[in-house]
Amino acid sequence: MCGIVGVTGDQPALPVLLEGLGRLEYRGYDSAGVALQSGGALWVRKRAGKLSELVASVGDAPAGATAGIGHTRWATHGRPNDANAHPHTDCGGELALLHNGIVENYLSLRARLEGAHELRSETDTELLAHLMEERLADGATLADAARSILREVEGSLAIAVVHASDPELIVAARRVSPLVAGVADGAAFLASDIPALLPYTRDFKIIDDDQIVELRPGTLRVTDLDGAEIEPPARRVDWNLEEAEKGGFPDFMLKEIHDQPVAVEETLRGRTTADGRIVLDELRLSEDELRDVDKVFVVACGTSYHAGMVAKYAIEHWTRLPCEIDIASEFRYRDPVLDTRTLVVGVSQSGETADTIAACRHAKRLGAKVVAVSNVVDSSMAREADAVLYTHAGPEIGVAATKTHLAQIVALTELGLYLGQIRGTQLPSHTKRLLEELAEVPDRIRSLLTDSAKEVERVASQYWQTRDFFFIGRGVGYPVALEGALKLKEISYARAEAYPAGELKHGAIALIEPGVVVVGVATRSRVHAKTLSNIEEVRARGATVILVATEGDEDAASLADHVFWVPETAELFSPAVDVVPLQLFAYFVAKRRGHDVDQPRNLAKTVTVE
Ligand code: AGP
Repeated sequence: MCGIVGVTGDQPALPVLLEGLGRLEYRGYDSAGVALQSGGALWVRKRAGKLSELVASVGDAPAGATAGIGHTRWATHGRPNDANAHPHTDCGGELALLHNGIVENYLSLRARLEGAHELRSETDTELLAHLMEERLADGATLADAARSILREVEGSLAIAVVHASDPELIVAARRVSPLVAGVADGAAFLASDIPALLPYTRDFKIIDDDQIVELRPGTLRVTDLDGAEIEPPARRVDWNLEEAEKGGFPDFMLKEIHDQPVAVEETLRGRTTADGRIVLDELRLSEDELRDVDKVFVVACGTSYHAGMVAKYAIEHWTRLPCEIDIASEFRYRDPVLDTRTLVVGVSQSGETADTIAACRHAKRLGAKVVAVSNVVDSSMAREADAVLYTHAGPEIGVAATKTHLAQIVALTELGLYLGQIRGTQLPSHTKRLLEELAEVPDRIRSLLTDSAKEVERVASQYWQTRDFFFIGRGVGYPVALEGALKLKEISYARAEAYPAGELKHGAIALIEPGVVVVGVATRSRVHAKTLSNIEEVRARGATVILVATEGDEDAASLADHVFWVPETAELFSPAVDVVPLQLFAYFVAKRRGHDVDQPRNLAKTVTVE
């Protein structure tokens, strides 16, 4: 999510930091900053906005500084502004720290540190600077203080720290969030992402979880949590810059499909307790307000609408509240019945979609409580809503939404479980079991990406010239079918219609004939047998059948020409797994057709017109 660069050597550090941050610009960010060592003191500058804002502000930087750290921020805690930009300093301004990740025990840490320290930002990161300040005051070395951060802090983090008392030293530590380091020409380098360092080295040490790295000019020392020295694995990278930005994948879309397990993990992070409850402290609506709700509307567009459809099933099932789902551009014009007891959930990865913003404003005007589900901190929707639930998919560059969609499904199911928990419509033991299931989803996606991608590619290579596709599903399989069809339309420009499987026979079945490909979402669920009956109907009319089916389901396989196997997943979470082969199918068909999958024709990442 955020970008990190660090260098210590005998050449000016600032140009290295700014160039490295520039090479991470493609990922999108909202602010940037640097800290330089300058004759026994630190010089820190940070600016909201584009990197050019920071570049324009560093004219007075100490020219001779040869060590420093730099950061581009993708906001998670606190708005994008100068104060919240990294690096953050301790009370005395002697230590500067930057961070990529999310601190889960943020609220308790903040409560503990607030009285004793002067907190100058809304971020989780600043708390880490003050925690380290306390350890240093107790006599710890900088590396030991970083070690204690790894011990005390829950969540994902890659941190880099400098301290005025040791001008050549940079200390970094990692858990979950990526970190690489390298040595070249008498300098040592550090980054969150390989592209930042490609002009200086192609030989990297990959820093692993719970490891601490100390960088001095020309040397690296890596230790574990106990202080024992370790030799991290080396990696030589032959990628050019463009390949490196895409993490070695040919396109951002394919990279982002593979980012999905992490996007789901990050969205789950910090929102469940060890005893199996869900905590959404950030929601800003009190439990009493949520208990008072008597109806829920979900409003969204496109892929976000499909995530919202999954939420409708989940919210109704877990809370017994009526939940309607609306296309945002239709919502205001149909005179929906809303009042102060209505909860409206606006879903938008960008948080800037004009139709969804307008729908949320309409709901607020009528007195409803509005929750925004957004991937962008401080987006217009997030600012205007009564409450926000962020997805933590990180920046998505491909125009066709993939990882933000999975993160939305997860955030919305969290919201549904939370409503069920506080309204008492779910037994605590049931919620606990569901949360355990939800925690399994990232690994299910991982295994599917490893085991099924080749077969999906092979099938796509057989049907890439097909003119007409139908996607069908029942229950939560229907939004998956809708999303599979939308992905295929968006990037391959094939005609793809999605239907509830049971609805096909009421009209569209007239279009089924040999040569038509029907993609059925037929994983195990309460409507599994009925879905298979609908598959029989299209087979009988000569369609080619591709099924998304649960591993080992021979009944489904016997009806299909091809099967995309997926691991069994609890029904209401299954869309987050079942949609993945359909994203891949759309991707491989589009590639065969020679299209630019990252920037499909006529589409924009953010649609700011109604
Ligand atoms: C997704 O692949 C599309 N590009 C599009 O349908 C998108 O989901 C829709 O425009 C809504 O965008 P939002 O999530 O930013 O509101």
